[in-house]
Amino acid sequence: MGVEIKESPVSDAEFEAMEEFVYDYLTASVENEDDGGRMRWYPWHSADYRFNHILNVVDLAGRIAEHEGANVDVVRVAALFHDIAKLEAEQERHADEGARVAREYLDTHGDFPQSFVEEACQAIRDHSYQGELDDVSLETRCLIEADVLDKVGANGTALMLLRMGYEARSHMDAAEMVERVLERGKDAARRVESETAESIAHKRLKRVKWFQEWLEMEVPEMDHDEFEELYRSD
Ligand SMILES: [Fe+2]
Repeated sequence: MGVEIKESPVSDAEFEAMEEFVYDYLTASVENEDDGGRMRWYPWHSADYRFNHILNVVDLAGRIAEHEGANVDVVRVAALFHDIAKLEAEQERHADEGARVAREYLDTHGDFPQSFVEEACQAIRDHSYQGELDDVSLETRCLIEADVLDKVGANGTALMLLRMGYEARSHMDAAEMVERVLERGKDAARRVESETAESIAHKRLKRVKWFQEWLEMEVPEMDHDEFEELYRSD
């Protein structure tokens, strides 16, 4: 009995071509819309933000998949396509629509095993599932965990502060807004199941907590508890 050598069904060149396809698809979604009713001026609704989020999720999901013994290729490809339709479809439809676009691409580019295509598309379709992570495949779980983790931590904090600027808020609201990132991080830490995702969540939560504490140390008036008391009487 020889050692089984599992060959990856996706070459580096094929993965790069997929990345390019996803980026072009997102850019075209923004260019082709005619109403501007989706608040496109917010940076997180732009093609660049979405693509960057996707790359973060590819990286995080790949790391989780490796540690958890999931099929890394399925997870990375599913992560790459998971939000491809986010800018053109309604939120409730974007996962199904993303799976459709991915299947069309994978069926017509290269010679990927049918089971590989099925598993990747299933993960994309199920990635917005809100229930227990025990209900979905291991590959889908890796994707959901990574998707949730990208919104917490230093990156989530940076985005929240940027959002404050777009909402013309004063920087004195910063501690309270960072508190929201912290709450979201706690929700994420409660939801994820794998040890890898849990440890990433805790590391990221700690960074947000530090940032909030440093902010309040430098600007005592910014204390988020005081903020709440100040506005509770309104
Ligand atoms: Fe996502």
